[in-house]
Amino acid sequence: MNTRDTLRVNERGHLEIGGADCTELAKNFGTPLYVFDEDYIRGMMRTLRDTIAREYGDGLVLYASKAFSCEAMYAIAKQEKIGADVVSGGELYTAMKAGFPAENICMHGNNKLPSEISYALDCGVGLLVVDNSSEADLLEAECAARGRVQDVLLRINPGVEAHTHKFIQTATPDSKFGFSVQSGSAEEMTSYLLKSPHLRLRGFHCHIGSQIFEKQSFVLAAEKCLSFMAAMREKFAFEADTLNLGGGFGIWYCDGDEKFDFEGYAGYLRALITAVKAGCGKYGLKQPRLMIEPGRSIVGEAGITLYTVGAIKEIKGIRKYVAVDGGMFDDPRYCLYGSKYTALLANRADEPATEKVSIAGKCCESGDLIGVDMPLPEARRGDILAVLSTGAYNYSMASNYNRNLIPPAVLVKDGNAEYIVKPQSYEDLVRNDVLPERLK
Ligand code: LLP
Repeated sequence: MNTRDTLRVNERGHLEIGGADCTELAKNFGTPLYVFDEDYIRGMMRTLRDTIAREYGDGLVLYASKAFSCEAMYAIAKQEKIGADVVSGGELYTAMKAGFPAENICMHGNNKLPSEISYALDCGVGLLVVDNSSEADLLEAECAARGRVQDVLLRINPGVEAHTHKFIQTATPDSKFGFSVQSGSAEEMTSYLLKSPHLRLRGFHCHIGSQIFEKQSFVLAAEKCLSFMAAMREKFAFEADTLNLGGGFGIWYCDGDEKFDFEGYAGYLRALITAVKAGCGKYGLKQPRLMIEPGRSIVGEAGITLYTVGAIKEIKGIRKYVAVDGGMFDDPRYCLYGSKYTALLANRADEPATEKVSIAGKCCESGDLIGVDMPLPEARRGDILAVLSTGAYNYSMASNYNRNLIPPAVLVKDGNAEYIVKPQSYEDLVRNDVLPERLK
């Protein structure tokens, strides 16, 4: 188990997160429950922010809020003086609602809706990342109509194949994101943007994928971006002043994954900083403002999910299913990517694992699992099951499938927990249903 400072087993043999006993959390807030440790989130934000400031100079960490978006997260990011990356009108709205400074927001999306573009301009978002040419036209027209100039980055695809699940690779030749450096489309688009009267091209963005452990892939992407920047200076006398290298740092989920402390995570960033400085030296470029967009590494290991064990079914010689009161509606990652997790019984966290079980959800799908072959002590109905490292891409990808309720989230600080996302009710489920007169 990866305990670090967030998790520990207390004298009662219970799992604690951020000083709060998980069995108490389950009792007080019910299950399923997402639990987040505030100190961990802040610790990661500070570490990355300070590493850039100390070892690079001008830069900005943007929290990739798709990993976990709710008002409290933007409030924490604001207090920690970092920026945010948003990918939809909904994320932007949430950030605005939390009083997040729009100038520190970078907006992404491979198909930003006209309404999202106009909302972003109304809010005064600092940077928009141009992902395709029709969007550039829309943006130019919208800015012209408002008589203003918008700072933009161009998303380039450096063609780096990162070792991760193919659904979360983003810089292979066959990608729906950005402009390929190799094919020449990134160059064409640079020229186009430089001629757009209402768009001010500040620099480039790239993101090679998510849950990547090889520092070398990030370094390679950075090198390719710098070489592209040098080529654009050569070609168009354009010196980019901003380089956003995206997110993607891999985190610990289970045995076999690397375990980093905060400083370990700073190691990814150091590798990038070294590559950027070296590239600038090699091509004689002025050091650009360096941005990164970590999501998973900031919030992933800060979060766990608590469930209550229900039905247990043993199929002799095949497998044992331990069913919980959640499933793919609060965590679809096993279904989508075959993701692996570590689980333990929070009320008997000091007992050794004695068997391997599949953890099943309660949805009407055979594939609705949290994981297979997960080591656990013998589970009984009523046990509290904790699944670790669920802070990223769980709540944010949750759904009301089977009309199950999306679980609430609590934030723990010094042993005290408070809601940051309230529980849904059945009434919430039917709130937008409409029963036409003739069906009554
Ligand atoms: N920047 C861009 C442009 C991105 O597309 C992403 C993630 C990030 C930053 C943040 O990457 P991170 O640091 O979180 O790896 N649902 C998947 C992950 C999808 C990632 C999408 N983009 C999962 O559950 O593994």
